[in-house]
Amino acid sequence: MKGSTTNEGRTGEPLAKSVVAEQRLASVVAVPLSDKFSRGERECLDRLRELRRYPQNEQTEITLMSGESVRIGDRFRKTGVNFHFGRFLFSFVRQLRPETSLELGTGLGSSGMFHLAAMEMNGVGHMTTIEAHEATAQFARRMLESISPIRFFLTVGFSQDLLSEVLTELKKIDYAFIDGHHREESTKAYFHQILPFMSTNSLMVFDDIDWSDGMVSAWSHISGHSEVAAAADLGRMGVCLIRPD
Ligand SMILES: C[S@@+](CC[C@H](N)C(=O)[O-])C[C@H]1O[C@@H](n2cnc3c(N)ncnc32)[C@H](O)[C@@H]1O
Repeated sequence: MKGSTTNEGRTGEPLAKSVVAEQRLASVVAVPLSDKFSRGERECLDRLRELRRYPQNEQTEITLMSGESVRIGDRFRKTGVNFHFGRFLFSFVRQLRPETSLELGTGLGSSGMFHLAAMEMNGVGHMTTIEAHEATAQFARRMLESISPIRFFLTVGFSQDLLSEVLTELKKIDYAFIDGHHREESTKAYFHQILPFMSTNSLMVFDDIDWSDGMVSAWSHISGHSEVAAAADLGRMGVCLIRPD
């Protein structure tokens, strides 16, 4: 955890803002880490577990941009957020109650299913998600519609081409999940481009921060940035608290 300036602590002593931010992020992360879900949340997660059986076992093949043919089920399991980390995404959205969310790298919809299930439970929230590959996006759209047909907008194209327009339209973002284009310079560039649009007490979550030396370096740059008030490394995912009040 990391994070400067002061406000008042429980004892009335000045408390470093970094400490407040770190405590706040630690309490957000503690919920899924210690499995502190309500009964309703558990039931929702159980339904998601069932719903995920279909995409995980789907035998239909799609041709990737590289020309390689892959079974959807294999790709869903290999590249999608797994159930363990999906619970973290679900919990972040439940706790933050974001109105506006952005996802880069829809994939086949695994992470999006957790985000949307939490938004449905919140009764508030909308996610804009970007995916470069048409056939992947088509399948993801079906998966996301099965959770909530109204709480997402899936746009097909390269993030680097679409992001500027999407950010202008969204104006402010309460929650961002960055999971496409796992290259150091791209990840840093997306962080810097999205950061000015992040609202007070917002979260930015980065997946696959340990995927390559480049991603480790990108996470080191991002988590050390002066506008990241606190950052937590969950192993595979990195979470940043932006502009706490
Ligand atoms: C790791 S997968 C995403 C998995 C997804 N978030 C999930 O948990 O199900 C990365 C996705 O990003 C997409 N992608 C890669 N580069 C991209 C880019 N420049 N713009 C948009 N999407 C991109 C890939 O096609 C792939 O589907």
